[in-house]
Formats: sequence, C-alpha cells, structure tokens
Amino acid sequence: MKRSKLLAFIFVASLLVLASCLKNDTLAKRVPQLPAVPYDYTAKVIIPQGNPWGNGGNGGDNTPPDNVTTNAGAALGRVLFYDRVFSLNNSISCSSCHKQQFAFSDNVDLSNGFDGSKTLRNALPVFNQHVNSAFFWDGRAATLEQQSLMPVKNHIEMGMEKMDNLAIKLKSVSYYPALFKAAFGSEEITAVRVADALAQFMRSMRSFNSKFDQGGTMAFANFTDKEKDGMQIFTQSRCNNCHGGQNLSGNFGSDWANTGLDASPVDKGKGAITGFPQQNGVFRVPSLRNIGLTGPYMHDGRYKTLDEVIDHYNNGVQASPNLDVRLTTGGWGIDSSTTKPVNLNLNTSQKESLKAFLLTLTDYQFTSDPKFSDPFK
Ligand code: HEC
Ligand code: HEC
Repeated sequence: MKRSKLLAFIFVASLLVLASCLKNDTLAKRVPQLPAVPYDYTAKVIIPQGNPWGNGGNGGDNTPPDNVTTNAGAALGRVLFYDRVFSLNNSISCSSCHKQQFAFSDNVDLSNGFDGSKTLRNALPVFNQHVNSAFFWDGRAATLEQQSLMPVKNHIEMGMEKMDNLAIKLKSVSYYPALFKAAFGSEEITAVRVADALAQFMRSMRSFNSKFDQGGTMAFANFTDKEKDGMQIFTQSRCNNCHGGQNLSGNFGSDWANTGLDASPVDKGKGAITGFPQQNGVFRVPSLRNIGLTGPYMHDGRYKTLDEVIDHYNNGVQASPNLDVRLTTGGWGIDSSTTKPVNLNLNTSQKESLKAFLLTLTDYQFTSDPKFSDPFK
C-alpha cells in the first residue's frame, strides 16, 4: 500500500471508530421516560358490532396461559420494542421498521437492516396480532412468542445471532434490571423473558376504532355516499371472501392465497416453507385495517398506492395453476372448473369508491396512542 493511501486508510478508520464511540455514548444517555403509573395494557377492547362480514371469524385470542399480558410486562415490551441496543451495532430497533404513524409498518417497499442491507419482504404492520394463528407473510412462526426473537437473530434485520449475547448486553443497560423485576418478579434477563415481554406488548396493540368500526353500529350513517358505494363494491367483488372477519384478514385466524401477482412467482412464499409446489406464490391474507397507512403494498411492496392494488384486482390478476379459486371467474363453489382470472371491470368512479371505503379502515386513535409510542422521545 502506498504511504498516502495508508494515511487515508488510517484517517477513515479512526473516523469510523470515533463515530461508533459517539453512537455508544449517546445510546448510554437514552433513558426511557415511563409514566409513574403504568399505562393500562390489559383494558378490555370492545370489538364494535355491525361488521357486515362477521366479527367472529378470526379465531379468538392467542394468549398462551403462561404469558398472560400484565401492565408491567407490556411496559417492558414497549421499551424493548423501541430500544436500539437490540441490534448488533446499536443502530436500529423494532420500531425502525415498524413505525407507529404507519400502523407499525414501514413506508418503503423493503426496509433497511442493521448494516444497511434490505429485508427480503415488505414489513408487515403490527396490530391485532392476538387473532393470528400464523405469523409473517409465509406463516413460518406459529406463535407471537416464537416470532418476536426472529428479527433480532435475523442476519439482515438486527444481526444478534447469539441470543446469550443479547441477555448479556441488556444486563449492562441501567434501566433493564428494574423493568424485568417489575414484569417477571426478578431481575433475571433471559431470551425467553425478552420474547414474552415483546409478545405481551404486541398483543396489547389492538386497533378497532376506525370510521368503519364506529359506523357498524349505526348502519354506516357516518359514511359518505361514496364510502357506502365502496363498501358494496367490496362485497360484490368478493374481497371479503378473503379479507373478512374482525381483522379483515380472513376467517380462519390466518387465511392464505395466491393472488395472481405473477404467472410464475419469484418468491415462493408458503411453498418454500411447506415444500408443496401448489403453494408456490401463496401468502398470508393481510389485514385491510389501517390500509391507508401501510403502503407500499403486497409481500414485496411492488405497489406504491392503493390505486395500483385496485387495478391489480380489477384487470391485472395473472392466470396460473396456483391462482386461488376465489379470484377466478368461477369463484368459490360456483364453477371450480375454470382457472380464468376475475375481471372486475370497475370503472374509474367505482374504483374511487372502493378506495374511499378502504380509507375508512384507518384508526387514528391507534396511531397516536401514547401507550404504544416511543418512550425514548
Ligand atoms: C429491518 C427491519 C425490521 C426490524 C428491525 C424488525 N422487523 Fe418485524 N418485520 C419486518 C419484515 C420485513 C417483516 C415481514 C417478514 C416476512 O414476513 O417474511 C416483519 C414481520 C414482523 C411481524 C409479523 C406480523 C404478522 O402479521 O405476521 C411481527 C410481529 C414483527 N415483525 C415484530 C417485530 C419485532 C418485535 C421486532 C424487534 C424485535 C421487529 N419486528 C424488528 C421488518 C423488521
Ligand atoms: C383469494 C383471496 C383474496 C381476495 C379475493 C382478495 N384479496 Fe386482497 N390480498 C390477498 C392476499 C393473499 C394478499 C397478499 C398478497 C401478496 O402479497 O402476495 C392481499 C393483499 C391485498 C392488499 C395489500 C395489503 C398489504 O398490506 O400489502 C390490499 C389493499 C388488498 N389485498 C385489497 C383487496 C381488495 C380491495 C379485494 C377485492 C377487490 C381483494 N383484496 C381481494 C388475498 C385476497
């Protein structure tokens, strides 16, 4: 190496070391601001009645008997969710990709991991996780407790591949022993306790206060004509065959479909997990709640706007042997012999109405609720 190059190298290297010291220093000064009396995370959330596609349909509450949510447990989960010590280089937290103002999803197609590389899929929003019976776009986690440490270990997302190191790291952070004691009765920090607290926090994040919810009990008298038309188009187009139930995410706790995005799917989705070729391109039916805030859309974030998603269903569904029968002209139980994709033939004004309806599903109380907000701010 030439001397000038060597000097340049040393200069850049020392800048990097300095930068990381500064980062650790500012991190040490970050202390969560928590209310003297913890927020109420266990208050019963009443699910408004009057949902035309059924409220019962999403299964019950997946809380396991050994991890019932408490206010102290969820309060700890909140701190963990927002804490950057969670990533290998203290650069990101869960909330870097799951942002409250976007209903805890990210506003980019793929998110940035701890070292700047991109996630393989679009970040899912986090709310009403209590109804799910499978997690992630491909269902690879069966419980929220199991799910919650996966992003921490993930080599793209947070990079903490050795869970023991996480416990050691958290022990050295001033505020954690007391928070663990309040939540679990002793100061001991383990990966299981971290997972449990995160799951408690996420299970408390319930979102049932949109214009749609408020309207259900009064025959949607609060809706504009356009929104009412859109709701009708939603049913006529059979969107609720998949996006039904209290969470508008399917009727079986978790529902699945190939929506004809590609004739030959690049990402195999559920098929890659189960090994069944007929499940290639099959993904979990996402909730349509807060859909106005959670774009870009689809598992790979390919559509920037709801208009593009509506155009897809209107006349963009690709034929393939794996295309879900509910998106064929035959439909469900009508004529299963056809695999021809639906063509909704909605005109511009009908598409606008459908979108107006989708926008009634936003719950602004949820996205501004202080008990889910960043305690480090
Ligand atoms: C670098 C960005 C990133 C970080 C950091 C991150 N996530 Fe995620 N999260 C994602 C992506 C992307 C997905 C969808 C991945 C998939 O389905 O394959 C996801 C999915 C999820 C889901 C599944 C939701 C559902 O409906 O199935 C939950 C829950 C979740 N993350 C919680 C967390 C928690 C808790 C943390 C912190 C410990 C975290 N995430 C950190 C990007 C991130
Ligand atoms: C056969 C089941 C099915 C039907 C019918 C269906 N969807 Fe979907 N929908 C899905 C699945 C599965 C996805 C995720 C697909 C993916 O990313 O590969 C999805 C994704 C979406 C998304 C994006 C969600 C997100 O978070 O990225 C919107 C918006 C949407 N659908 C609206 C509709 C509307 C409006 C209709 C009716 C015109 C409809 N869907 C009909 C199954 C369905």
